[in-house]
Amino acid sequence: MADVTFTSPAMPKDVTVYATAGDTRTLLSVAKEHKVPIHFECENGECGSCACQVTVLSDKTPLGIALTEKEKTVLKLAGKITDKQIHDAEVKDLPPPWRLACQFIVRHEDILVKF
Ligand code: FES
Repeated sequence: MADVTFTSPAMPKDVTVYATAGDTRTLLSVAKEHKVPIHFECENGECGSCACQVTVLSDKTPLGIALTEKEKTVLKLAGKITDKQIHDAEVKDLPPPWRLACQFIVRHEDILVKF
């Protein structure tokens, strides 16, 4: 159960959708279902075209921060994440600012997604 708010210059206004409890879908899947125009190509964590900024909107410890190996590689090559941010995500549970929408699993927390 989470509100996912999408914001982008590509949309006339922000869109907030409700992700259902028990969902283990990717952020890209949620966006596509609601016709949110996040750009994508491979849908497999390889091209980096779906990179977006994700901010957790609650005070609780973020839940969905596990980065896939593909995310680490692609985001690092794109200059959107540092080794320190990867380390902080893995060791300190600090969410990195950028994620790949096709790899990020929506959890039970409200998030803001900028693309
Ligand atoms: Fe290619 Fe997400 S669509 S990395």
